Amino acid sequence: MTDVLAGKVAVVTGANSGIGLAIARRFAAEGARVFLAGRRQEPLDAAVAEIGPAATGVRTDVSVQTDLDDLYSVVREEAGRIDVLVANAGSAVPQRLGEITEEAIDATFGTNVKGTIFTVQKALPLLSDGASIVVTGSTTNLRPGPSLEIYGASKAAVRNLVRSWALSAQERKFRVNVLSPGPTETPGLVGAVGPDLHQFASEVPLGRIGRPDEIAAVATFLASDASSFVNGVEWFVDGGQAQV
Ligand SMILES: NC(=O)c1ccc[n+]([C@@H]2O[C@H](COP(=O)([O-])OP(=O)(O)OC[C@H]3O[C@@H](n4cnc5c(N)ncnc54)[C@H](OP(=O)(O)O)[C@@H]3O)[C@@H](O)[C@H]2O)c1
Repeated sequence: MTDVLAGKVAVVTGANSGIGLAIARRFAAEGARVFLAGRRQEPLDAAVAEIGPAATGVRTDVSVQTDLDDLYSVVREEAGRIDVLVANAGSAVPQRLGEITEEAIDATFGTNVKGTIFTVQKALPLLSDGASIVVTGSTTNLRPGPSLEIYGASKAAVRNLVRSWALSAQERKFRVNVLSPGPTETPGLVGAVGPDLHQFASEVPLGRIGRPDEIAAVATFLASDASSFVNGVEWFVDGGQAQV
């Protein structure tokens, strides 16, 4: 590790599992103070215990306004600012046209779209000048997989939001980018599609699915000053899946 995030204050949502946990772990290893948010208290506590004194966990459902208020109150009191915000919390309910339910739309868009909007909007008063915002997208925003159409639509919305927000980078003194993983070995992917994750490997030119630490490495670059002129992009970490 290189301490590229030394002295930075970071908030990561969806940080008690999978990609978010790998990002929180890597940010702390690179010298950041990290606030972890997620709904389930037990894995949140376990993540904080594993990462150590640089980590603080705040139980948060990003689709609930008062939970976000509480999260940012803790950050304000304990750190006073945010240098890096990773809006990563996300979920999918696999359904195809003909079987789509209102509940699945509300759950998916409530977390992935509404949750992302308010995670960013409510952070604005705390963002330091030059802050980096990273929003987790997905290759499904370009190439939705079987039964992932509602999820893909929610990630396409998020990608479009980031284009809009990137326009105000000068005025707001932040930069904002999308990090879009391809199929990555996480509890979330297993929950969405079942245990046979390697079914995806054949779609990936590298011939395998990704690891959460490979997504975290790019999140670290986008969070760090090494990417200070990167704004409004969608950075794919997908082994080439959606590129060729
Ligand atoms: N794995 C992949 O192949 C893949 C590919 C492309 C994009 N992604 C995206 O990567 C992100 C992380 O997914 P993952 O694969 O790491 O899945 P994961 O292991 O299920 O992690 C998802 C995280 O989001 C949290 N979360 C879900 N709904 C939330 C809510 N309403 N409020 C707060 N936290 C919430 C979960 O914690 P709680 O359940 O405790 O709330 C968990 O920490 C998601 O945005 C996902 O769409 C994943």
